[in-house]
Amino acid sequence: MSRRFYRPAPRLRGSVTAPPDKSLSHRAALLAAMSSEPVLISNYLQAQDTRSTLEAVQALGVLVQERADGLVLRGPGLRAAAEPDHPIDVGNAGTLMRLLPGWLAGQGGGGSWTLDGDASIRRRPMGRVVDPLRLMGAQIETAGEGLAPLRIEGRNLEGTEYRMPVASAQVKSCVLLAGILAGGRTTVLEPAASRDHTERLLLRGGVDVRRDGLSVSVVCQDELEMDSIAVPGDPSSAAFHAAAAVLVPGSRIVVENMAANWTRVGFYRILERMGGIVVGPLEQAGGPLTADEPVCELDISHGPLVGTTVEADEVPLAIDELPLVALLGCFAEGETAVEGAQELRLKESDRIATVVDGLRGLGADIEATADGFVVRGTGGLRGGTLPAHGDHRLAMLGAVAGLASQQGVEVDGIEAAAVSYPGFVDDLASLTGA
Ligand code: S3P
Repeated sequence: MSRRFYRPAPRLRGSVTAPPDKSLSHRAALLAAMSSEPVLISNYLQAQDTRSTLEAVQALGVLVQERADGLVLRGPGLRAAAEPDHPIDVGNAGTLMRLLPGWLAGQGGGGSWTLDGDASIRRRPMGRVVDPLRLMGAQIETAGEGLAPLRIEGRNLEGTEYRMPVASAQVKSCVLLAGILAGGRTTVLEPAASRDHTERLLLRGGVDVRRDGLSVSVVCQDELEMDSIAVPGDPSSAAFHAAAAVLVPGSRIVVENMAANWTRVGFYRILERMGGIVVGPLEQAGGPLTADEPVCELDISHGPLVGTTVEADEVPLAIDELPLVALLGCFAEGETAVEGAQELRLKESDRIATVVDGLRGLGADIEATADGFVVRGTGGLRGGTLPAHGDHRLAMLGAVAGLASQQGVEVDGIEAAAVSYPGFVDDLASLTGA
């Protein structure tokens, strides 16, 4: 494991292009695989997680051609996924592990597939996708109580109305993908809005996707007709730079080409509410479903911070950025609390435990609760060592904490950042002038 020391930064200046969005890259590759025509994907994320997706779709019969303007994927189409003679290894990618069963379970011509991943994937709950798929008629075996590896046999599925117990874009997407293969209509009802990239892409692929409040439905399709897909920059990756700019006095940065989709930018609204200066056109919440993924340029500067409470409804819109809210809370006046975020315990690591222990080790006054954490701002952070636990977002959190700390932070396991953001170390260094 590699260690990297982040010393206190005098300030951050400059511009950075957000790396390609991870959620959209996974979905672009999967929907291209399901499409009847070749699909050009530009700005595909080349990171560990999304390489796992490219390898998975290749094993399922996709031909990938690298061109100067992007990747061209020629898939087997909606109902002709190939059967590799080996298990599909999703690596660390939860999104791949949870979306792929939706496509494979609905292969009415039969076939069987085994999906497996790393130690973190084998700990994460898969019953949340297996349960609704079984209601649709899927044949899936799990290891133990809803754990990977999954063994899936293709079947003709029937549409269903599924009320999700937790807001999860991965579960919603899995059921919608199965829904376009299943007979009749499939409807998913969420307890709160989560990212809607799958809905937008399906709409773009010719599917009649209907959204009514927190319910989304699709009907059976003969084929999917995707055209080219341009992947915008990732707001979850850019959030680390944005947080650093808000935390370190005298900073001002520009983030270019970032997805502005309202279901992804909850963190930037929290950042503003806490006193960070964020200027740029983020999409407004709650508009009609469109096939577009809006893009923005953000101008972000330091501001004195005040504590805030992040409530359950906001959680899915900022789920991957909540570790940064804990860090911001250390520097804010008063208390910062995150509620209704028990899902954090089920991410690449138990992010309530790893964030609370990690920041406390750097001097933070922070406590875990059953469904989140409470931080009392002390105006700063001493520094020390932060273990990444193989979790990419923890590794990047440690780096930002170091820049804003008094004595610097050694990140133990910085290489984990490559899961979603291989250029992270260099991009952050370009902003600090290091
Ligand atoms: C993702 C959805 C979120 C998020 C994950 C990516 C996606 O998970 O935490 O990093 O691409 O759909 P849940 O949908 O399980 O909340």
